[in-house]
Amino acid sequence: MFGKKKNIQQIDKQQLELIQNAQRRVKQKKRLYIHFVFFLIGSVFIILANVVLGIGETVKLFDIDWFVFAIIAWLFLFLYHAFNVFVTHKFMGKEWEQKQLDILVAKQQQRIDKLKEKFVKEETLMAQSEAYNDAKKISKKNSELTIIVAAGENDAIGKDNKLIWHLSDDLKRFKSLTNGHHIIMGRKTFESFPKPLPNRTHVIISRQNNYKVPEGAIVVNSLENAIEATKNDSQPFIIGGGEIYKQAMAFASKIELTRVHENFDADTFFPKIDTAIWKETGNAFHNKDDKHEHAFSFMTYEKR
Ligand SMILES: NC(=O)c1ccc[n+]([C@@H]2O[C@H](COP(=O)([O-])OP(=O)(O)OC[C@H]3O[C@@H](n4cnc5c(N)ncnc54)[C@H](OP(=O)(O)O)[C@@H]3O)[C@@H](O)[C@H]2O)c1
Repeated sequence: MFGKKKNIQQIDKQQLELIQNAQRRVKQKKRLYIHFVFFLIGSVFIILANVVLGIGETVKLFDIDWFVFAIIAWLFLFLYHAFNVFVTHKFMGKEWEQKQLDILVAKQQQRIDKLKEKFVKEETLMAQSEAYNDAKKISKKNSELTIIVAAGENDAIGKDNKLIWHLSDDLKRFKSLTNGHHIIMGRKTFESFPKPLPNRTHVIISRQNNYKVPEGAIVVNSLENAIEATKNDSQPFIIGGGEIYKQAMAFASKIELTRVHENFDADTFFPKIDTAIWKETGNAFHNKDDKHEHAFSFMTYEKR
């Protein structure tokens, strides 16, 4: 009862069909061979019957003995049989029909697959354009929603929740551009400040329900809500960090970038600026000096 199961060899359906088909073919050929033997013996028999036994001696057509016509007629019958076995069977048999059917089904399936692929592509494009339009609607409300960022040549922007460099002119530019405006940031960037920046309204994005912030600061639970909270500002700024920049690229209409001309070791990066979407409209180079350890450029990009 608990012994090993017997390994019953099973021939699969396809193999069985092949065997049955082969058996059929052997039978057909055997029948043809028997027919051939009968034809030979029969022909000899007819000739003997006529010539030796004199059967139907007087029956002639166009002065030719009847057995010649009989043998020719039989020969045609035999050739027709052979034609059926070797030619018609090959082209018109069940196997041939099945093959044709399979080809048609495969072609139909290909057409269905292509249609499906086209449909999925169109649907994705529609969804993308809807998302793009939604982003556009929101960014229109804030025509100058501006990303402000300093990034290395390799797009590095931070490490261990800190900035990587200290560039005095960059900080001055940041202060002067954002002064009096809303600054939108991720919770981690906010926590990287020693204290809130003066004369700016901080909008902090966090998924935490009871995230506490100093008086005057606003907490929201999504980027869309952050943008909504700044709708009365003519130029709100997205000030980072990496997670928020990534999400804000679709909504912003301007990028104020300080490109620091070196590669840095970092754990946070700015997304690649796609020049098919963004057009460079400003570029000012600053060399290294006593106050600036690295060369950098102030660059402005505007959405095309
Ligand atoms: N070079 C520069 O110009 C620059 C500027 C700014 C920052 N930085 C650097 O960037 C780094 C910080 O960037 P980061 O990417 O780690 O963090 P981050 O973007 O500043 O903040 C990430 C946090 O934001 C919240 N958040 C993100 N997406 C959200 C969404 N869709 N809805 C709700 N909340 C969302 C989450 O907060 P909860 O976890 O609370 O839910 C998340 O943990 C630091 O190294 C900083 O120094 C550099």
